[in-house]
Formats: sequence, structure tokens, C-alpha cells
Amino acid sequence: MDKLPTYHLGQPAVSRPKNHSKRFRGLLTAIVLAIGPLAYLGAVTFDLGGQPAVQVPVNAEQIKGRCHALNLTPGPPSNFLERTESDRFEAGAEPVLVKNATIWTGRADGLEVVKGDVFLANGLIKAVGDVDGNLVKKYKDVKVVDAKGAWVTPGIVDMHSHLGVDSAPELQGADDTNSFKGVVLPWLRSLDGLNTHDEAYRLSVSGGVTTSNVLPGSADAIGGQAFTIKLRPTKERSTSSLVLEPPFGMNGTEDYTSRPRWRQMKHACGENPKRVYDQTRMDTQWAFREAYNKARQIKEQQDSYCAKALAGEWKGLGSFPEDLQWEALVDVLRGKVKVHNHCYEAVDLDNMVRLTNEFKFKIAAFHHAHETYLVPDLLKKAYGGAPAIALFATNARYKREAYRGSEFAPRLLTDAGLKVGMKSDHPVLNSRYLLHEAQQAHYFGLASNLALASVISTPATILGYDHRIGFLKPGYDADLVIWDSHPLQIGATPKQVFIDGIPQLGNPFYSDKPDYFQHAPKVPNFDDEAKDAVKYEGLPPIEPRRSEKEVVIFTNVTSLHIRVGDHIKEVFDASRSGAKAYEPQSVVVKNGEIQCSSVEGSGCLASFSDFPSVQWVNLHGGSISPALVSYGSLLGIHEIDQESSTNDGRVIDLLTAENPAILGEGTLIHAVDGLEFATRDALLAYRDGATVGITAPESRGLISGLGVAFSTGAPHKLAKGAVLQDITAVHVSIHPSASSISTQIAVLRNLLYGHGEGETKRVFRSVVEGEVPLVIAVQNADIIASLIQLKGDVEKLGGKRVKFTFTGANEAHLLAKEIGEANIGVILTPARPYPGTWKARRILPGPPLSENNAAALLLAHNVTVALGVEEQWQSRNLRFDVGWTAIDAHGYISKNDAIALATINVEKLLGLSTPNTDLVAVEHASLYDFSGKVVGVISKREGGTSLVR
Ligand SMILES: *[C@@H]1O[C@H](CO)[C@@H](O)[C@H](O)[C@H]1NC(C)=O
Ligand SMILES: *[C@@H]1O[C@H](CO)[C@@H](O)[C@H](O)[C@H]1NC(C)=O
Ligand SMILES: *[C@@H]1O[C@H](CO)[C@@H](O)[C@H](O)[C@H]1NC(C)=O
Ligand SMILES: *[C@@H]1O[C@H](CO)[C@@H](O)[C@H](O)[C@H]1NC(C)=O
Repeated sequence: MDKLPTYHLGQPAVSRPKNHSKRFRGLLTAIVLAIGPLAYLGAVTFDLGGQPAVQVPVNAEQIKGRCHALNLTPGPPSNFLERTESDRFEAGAEPVLVKNATIWTGRADGLEVVKGDVFLANGLIKAVGDVDGNLVKKYKDVKVVDAKGAWVTPGIVDMHSHLGVDSAPELQGADDTNSFKGVVLPWLRSLDGLNTHDEAYRLSVSGGVTTSNVLPGSADAIGGQAFTIKLRPTKERSTSSLVLEPPFGMNGTEDYTSRPRWRQMKHACGENPKRVYDQTRMDTQWAFREAYNKARQIKEQQDSYCAKALAGEWKGLGSFPEDLQWEALVDVLRGKVKVHNHCYEAVDLDNMVRLTNEFKFKIAAFHHAHETYLVPDLLKKAYGGAPAIALFATNARYKREAYRGSEFAPRLLTDAGLKVGMKSDHPVLNSRYLLHEAQQAHYFGLASNLALASVISTPATILGYDHRIGFLKPGYDADLVIWDSHPLQIGATPKQVFIDGIPQLGNPFYSDKPDYFQHAPKVPNFDDEAKDAVKYEGLPPIEPRRSEKEVVIFTNVTSLHIRVGDHIKEVFDASRSGAKAYEPQSVVVKNGEIQCSSVEGSGCLASFSDFPSVQWVNLHGGSISPALVSYGSLLGIHEIDQESSTNDGRVIDLLTAENPAILGEGTLIHAVDGLEFATRDALLAYRDGATVGITAPESRGLISGLGVAFSTGAPHKLAKGAVLQDITAVHVSIHPSASSISTQIAVLRNLLYGHGEGETKRVFRSVVEGEVPLVIAVQNADIIASLIQLKGDVEKLGGKRVKFTFTGANEAHLLAKEIGEANIGVILTPARPYPGTWKARRILPGPPLSENNAAALLLAHNVTVALGVEEQWQSRNLRFDVGWTAIDAHGYISKNDAIALATINVEKLLGLSTPNTDLVAVEHASLYDFSGKVVGVISKREGGTSLVR
């Protein structure tokens, strides 16, 4: 509870007032005027134990109160949980009784699960489990919700978000993430930039997020103060009313008598401040030390001032030392601020650990923190103990300091005794899907109780709000989510979300999921991989190893799906309901080709098991299915996005730049010329089942160039099967840029009407002939409409059916019928849309906000649909995107159709005429859920079977 302050911080010992021979009314007047609004009402004279009388300021008690308050620890009043109504209660909100729920309370380290009811009233959780009927009877108009056994958790808490400051859609008028006015800006506040019209609020709520910590960006070493908000729209519609627990100093009307609430602050080290201010790590670290030194000086002045004031030594004391610019950083030194430190690498973590010990303050959490799993002992040396760690699950390698990021970090760090929270950095990751980060962390080995806690109770605790959010306990805020499946299952979606007891989903759409989705997935064992991550300092060898045996026999295979022409064929599937007749089978592979399976009869196995060179691989009830094709990112031409020296680089924008004569008229850039093999993202994609990448040259202009299809597992371009097809399709992109959209369409029209030069002219002629697809990155429905018309015009003129493919295509669902009729294919990139820009904002959000997702709706209009990814690291997760899209479509998309989304369809839409015939062997389950682990790739193209573990 509230601690009384002590004053021994290196100050001179406090002594009794000495004799005072003079009155110093004038000086006191100055002090009290400086101290506060109530200050000078006159001065009183009093007698100190027979000594000559001393003048003390009339507000001496107030000053002393403020001095006492200096070292109060933040937190709620001690009787906080006795509250009967939330400070956030909105009059009129009905009490709610959620009946028959499976309740994950967050208690007992995330291990407690209670079957029963939850009663919400006055914005609070009133009871959990066995709810007393008499309690409920005390309230009028109680709404009863039958959860029918569904999982219920506290609302999700995102400890690292830029919701509201980096809003959707992104508009120049609404970007308030970073200030560039200096490296150290502790006086700035994210609250001052909070856009109340960010479209992402409702989307994040629909993913179960109820609270977000809105941090300033990471351009500065000290970027400013963060504010933790609830995502519910309030009656007042103000920004202040969103703030969960108004922290000290928020509105300048503080009283110093009660315990302050926590403040939050952003720090950043490493590359971001380095890059933005063109400085070295040494400069950034000095900026920190200089700032903390300044804060320390003010703190010491205050402490010494207060030591005297509390001892009644008013003589010559002057005014209370303070500085509005530095008061927040002084509060860090007083332990009243949760410091959130964007910090990746061992070098930076070490700098910060030293800084905390030099100035004696605590860091609440290291964020991003991609190398923390390599240095747990260093972290434990931080002042006040190891900070918590806030991580992405698989988003890594986008810059040097993220290059050694590991998917095993969450489990390695918790194994080392550290607290781990998963975070979105929204909109870096759409916080609607923050739960997916916990799911992936769980898949890669984080225990299920800790995985759920990592986005609920752990962040609530790290932020200092575990007295009211993050747990389902009586007296806590009534923030909870009713889920349509176990929350760690792929595609888990809220059926309803309550914030402050108020239901947030007006007319939620949900469907009943299969029973096995009601349990946490049984995840594979990655112990060896996790050990290797540490052993090889984040760069474990991940190259596939070719089996030396001519014949590989996979045993205990539950399902086998193969490609036959442009269809997916189920050879057998013992996991399908109604397919009980099937037992697990064996599948024989020779030189990368399936020979037969035991389902065809016992002869199959018999003729190969005596073969001189056989490798047996037990899939433990797993599966074999077609390998995936990843498109949409710069896979294969980029290694580290933000390090240009590692990449192929960007093509010249022919609409705006001078075209160097040596390039020749109409030259198109071929992605095949820029291929780099064995990038880590490509190898990870390979070992997670995306064995082929299709990539176009990087461009910010209209014309990108010619795509290429390549093997993500090949060591170099000249290896067998490394390049499937030199030229796949011609890629263009229509988006707001240097030239107008109408100009870009005019240029496309010219090219399609034969006005180009050289190679461009030849390629566009083959587009008009219907031979080569024109792949157009486009989001907006109006632009899509223009392109549909253009295609019609070109076909009328040329008399041939032209192949158009739209990628991105956030708004394609608005013209699903027209796109279907025009026979245009769509690659949804990313698979789950986000209204990131104005012209991409009219998304079809999918359940629970709409019945359909875009894939299901487009398929219903006979559109060929595929899934793409935006960034290289996402290729490895394509398998989960497929599973997720299918489950989201609540049965509309069959298993075969789902597989086609990332195989046959994507090949067809991108002009791949040499199909990816690879198959993926998966242990334990299918490629598409959180139980399967890829162990092998069967490759006819490469003439063998590779083992990837
Ligand atoms: C809770 O819901 C489940 C699933 O609908 C049902 O089987 C069970 O009988 C219900 N229990 C109670 C106590 O209503
Ligand atoms: C200032 O914040 C406090 C909570 O810290 C709140 O009680 C008070 O109403 C606020 N005042 C104004 C003017 O917004
Ligand atoms: C097949 O796999 C299942 C699931 O792991 C296991 O229970 C069973 O023992 C395995 N059977 C054989 C013959 O290996
Ligand atoms: C889609 O194709 C099927 C089969 O060719 C046809 O029956 C159906 O009417 C088509 N649907 C639409 C919306 O065009």
C-alpha cells in the first residue's frame, strides 16, 4: 500500500530550524506564489518552541502534502476492489448474466478454468462461477446470454499499439505517431494525437481487443508518454474519456493527497533513432544519459527542498524546483512510470541495462526485443529486476536488429523466468489479430496458459492495471470475450465482446465450429529447434537436407491429397468424418515421386520395402498434401527489407524518371535477374510448406516488370529445379503515386493498344493475345471498375480473351459479380484485409462483423481466388492463412478449395505453366492447423525427398 516517503537520498541530514533573527515575509511570498494556486493568503507567524517566530507559507500543508506525494507508489486506492460501480460505467448499460461458459479467468498463472456463469453490472464483474441468484435479483432488466459452454476470457490487452495515432485509413492529416522535433521528448503525449475516427478501433474490438496502450513511435530515444485506452466508443466521444485510468498529470488538476495512477512512457534504442536523426548508437545513448542526468538533478533539488520543507526549515528555501518539460522523466526516476523500451539487440539491451543502474529506474518492458532470448542473464541485471518482454511471434528479419529474431523466443524467455507478452505494434500488425500472435507463440512451444496470458493478464500486469483488467474476478472491469472456439485455435473469433459491461458487437455473425476446435490444439514438439536457435545465436542452419535414399516410405499417414491437372484430389482422408473406414496408410516415394500408397492394396508396400535403400518416416497420423506457392512479397529478391545492400533494389519508375538510354526503349525488368537464394525467409517458407515463390521486381511506380517462379529451398539459381519459370506474368500496380491514377490507366490503355516500344510492346501484345496474364495490384473498387471496362475494350478490339488478375483487392468484394463475369482472378493480399489507405478502406471484414469473408464471397461469384502475403516473413504462415480462410468461411470453402487458394489458383492467376508438383509431408496433423509439423518435401522437380528437420 501507500508508502510514506523517507528522505535519505544523499541529502544533508535534516536538522531542526535554527534561530531566525529576521522575518522574511517577502521571500515567503515568492515561494508561495510559485508553489500553487492557493498559495498566498497571507503568512502566519508562529512560535517554534520559544524561539523567535518564523514565517511559514500559508499553504505549508499543501507543500508538505506535495512533498509526501513525491515518493508515493502509483496504483489504485487500497479499497479499490470494494467499488460497486465502475468509474467508466455508462448510465443505462444493462446488467448481463453470461450463463454456461468455460471461463479462463487468468488466475493461478493462467491455469484456472471455471465452468459456470459470469455476472456483469455497473460496468463491473460482480460474480464468476456459481452466481448467487439473489445477487442477480437485485438488478432490474438483466440480460441473459447463453454461452452454451463457449470459452470466455477477459478482454485482450495490447501493450504496444499506435491505434488512433497511426490511424486507418492513413491520411497525412492524421499521422501523429512520431515527433521529429528532437531526440528526447518526454513531455509529449500520445493522447494529444488520438484520432477518434480511426476505423481500426471497431476492427480491433471485433478481434477481442478491449484495451490498448497507445505509444508514441520509435523515431526518438524518448518519444513521449503513452496512454492506455479502452476501445469502446463513449457517450462523450472525447479522447480523454477513452483513457483507462487517467494517469498523474493528464489534465493538470492533480491533487497531491491521493495515490497517483501509473504513467506510461516510450523509449527507443537501436536503429530507429539512429536512422531518423542520422546519429550513432553512441549519440543516442548520450542523449539518454544527458536527459536522465537533467531529471536526476531536478529530482535531487526536489528531495532536498522537501527535506527542508518537511522539517519546517522554510528559510531561504525558494520555490519548489520543477520543470514542466522534465517532470515526467523525473517521475520515471521516482518509479511512477512504466517505461516501454523499443530495443532489439544485445548491444542496445546492454546499454539500457547500464542506464537503469546508473540512474536507478526500472524498465517495464523491452519491446520487439528480438535478441532478448539470447541474453536472459543480462536482462536480469537491469535495475529492479528483469523487464518483461513484448514480442511479435514470427515477424522478424525486416532490419538488421531483427535478423536474429526467433519464433522460439517466447518459450525460451519464459523458460528463463521472464515475463512475456505478445504485442501488435498496430498497425504494423493489425491488432484485430493480436490473439494470433499468442496462437503462434503457443504453436512454437509457449505453454497454453502463458500463451493466453501473454495477450491478456500479462500485459495488464506489465502496464500496472492488473487490479482492474486482464482477469475475470469480482470487482474487475466488465471486459470479456465470448469465443467461438478455444482461443488458441486457428481463426478463433469473438461471438461477443463486452467493454465496461457493454456489448460491442451489434449484430455479430458466427457459426458453430467443429468440436475439436473447442480444445487447445495439441502442438508439435520444437525443443531441438529452440535449442538450436540459442546455440547458433539466432541463425540455426535451416537448409533442407536431401534424403540419400532412393526410396522414402512414409508410414502412419492419415490423409493424402495430390494434384491432378488443375484439381486437388483426395486419395484418402481418414480424418474426415464419415471416412472412418480408413486406417492410416503408408505412402511410397521414389526419386521425389509418389509410387503408390497402401490404400491401393498390400502389393504397394511389398514391392518397395525390400528395396536396397529405403528411408522410413513415421508421420504419426500426419498428412501429405500439395506444397504451397507464396506470392505478394519480395521473397527471393530481398533478404533484409531495410538494408538495401542485401536486396535486388527498386526498378526505375518509367513514368517519372529519365529512362537511361542504355536500358533501351521499352525494356522490362525481369525478376529472375535479381533472384537471391537461401534467404532466411525463403528457407523458412520452404520448411513450412511454401516451396515455391513467385515474385515480381520491386517497384513504387506503375510498371514493375516480369515475375519469376523459383524454389524457396534451392541453394542457388543453377541448382536443379531452382527456377521453375523465368517469366510468369507482367506485373503493374495502380495506386496513388507521383502520377495520377487516370494517367496510369491511360498508360496501361496505350500499352494494351500496342503503343509501347521494344520488349514492353511484345509482352503487352502477348497479354492482348491472352497468353500472358496482366497482374494488376489494385485495391479500390472505382479503379477496379475502370480496369474491368478497359479489359472489355481490349477484348472487343483484339477479339481474344485477355487474362487479368487483381492483387491486393481489398474492395474487390464490392464488384464480385462484375469481376466474376469479366473472368478476372483475385489474389487477396493480405488474406485478411485492413483499411490501411483511403482507397482500400471499404473492406469486407469477415466474421463477426460480416457473414462472408472476401474469399467466400468472390468464390460464390465464380471468381478464381488465391491468397497472397505482403511481407517475406509471412510466407511461412501461408499454411495458416489457408486454414484460417477456410474456417472463417464456415464450411463454404471445402478442404480441396482451400488448398487450391495457395496452390492451383495462385499458379493459374500468375501465369505459372510449370506447376509446383511438390508435396509436403507433415507430422501429426494437416499443414493447415496448429498441430502439424512439416518434416519433408517430396519434389519430383528436384528429383528427391528433402527432410527439413
Ligand atoms: C452448457 O452447454 C453445453 C453445450 O451446449 C451443454 O451440453 C450443457 O448441457 C450446458 N450446461 C448447462 C449447465 O446448461
Ligand atoms: C482530470 O482528471 C481527473 C482524474 O485524474 C478527473 O477526476 C477530473 O475530472 C479531470 N478534470 C478535468 C477538467 O477533465
Ligand atoms: C500412428 O500415429 C499415432 C498418432 O501419433 C500413434 O498413436 C500410433 O501409435 C502410430 N502408429 C504407428 C504404427 O506408428
Ligand atoms: C458459377 O458457376 C456455376 C457452374 O458453372 C453456375 O452454375 C453458377 O450459376 C455460377 N454462379 C454465378 C454467380 O455466376
